[in-house]
Amino acid sequence: MEEMRLQKFMAICGIASRRESEKIIASGRVEVNGQIVTEPGIKVTYPKDSVKVDDVVIKPEKEKHYIMLNKPEGFLSSVKDDRGRECVVSLVEGINARLYPVGRLDYDTTGLLILTNDGDFMQSVTHPSSEIWKTYRAVVRGVPDESDVKHFAQGILLDDGKTLPAVLDVVGYKGENAIVEVSIREGRNRQVRRMLDRVGHGVKSLHRISYGTLNLDDLKPGKWRRLTPEEVAGLLEAAKND
Ligand code: URA
Repeated sequence: MEEMRLQKFMAICGIASRRESEKIIASGRVEVNGQIVTEPGIKVTYPKDSVKVDDVVIKPEKEKHYIMLNKPEGFLSSVKDDRGRECVVSLVEGINARLYPVGRLDYDTTGLLILTNDGDFMQSVTHPSSEIWKTYRAVVRGVPDESDVKHFAQGILLDDGKTLPAVLDVVGYKGENAIVEVSIREGRNRQVRRMLDRVGHGVKSLHRISYGTLNLDDLKPGKWRRLTPEEVAGLLEAAKND
């Protein structure tokens, strides 16, 4: 294998996307030939160099796995948690590979989450320039009106800047509250909750129903299935940019 940057090698090994791998390197969890490395720029050659993450030697993954999970409430979108909370990866049994969540859902958000060991795939679909649409169904306090819908369409000013234009639809009612669908094409932290807060309709529950061309359909909470090659290709196509 040719010489390559450490973060690219980590992505090929299915550790995380290149960007996430840079963070893992900076946090001091990576060793190259027995030395802890905190700079992402360094080059490695496989199998000449030995790379360890969290004390475990990593090597390129041969088989790629792409999984759709219906994440239940009360699971972290990560591989392990220092505080012993349950993590989504524990819900996918019988796959002999290190799987990583593609993006995150909050601890109390449910719904469609993709897991994979393909770091390049992860990089393509999570890169901000991919602008893949994600749709969420939420129960919110009160009922948004036309001006809220317009506000979403114009983009909402949050602490970390204005969002891209988004879609807000009222699709039903639950007593005095509304059931809404929100579609966004970014993936900022707690973005949907913050957008709905900003228009005065705090979220009571949040569930992701689609990600690009994928729909959760009738997959039950806690259950998973493999994506078909066509579904994987469809997501990569949706993520195509420039
Ligand atoms: N937006 C949120 O607020 N939370 C999620 O989990 C996903 C999107």
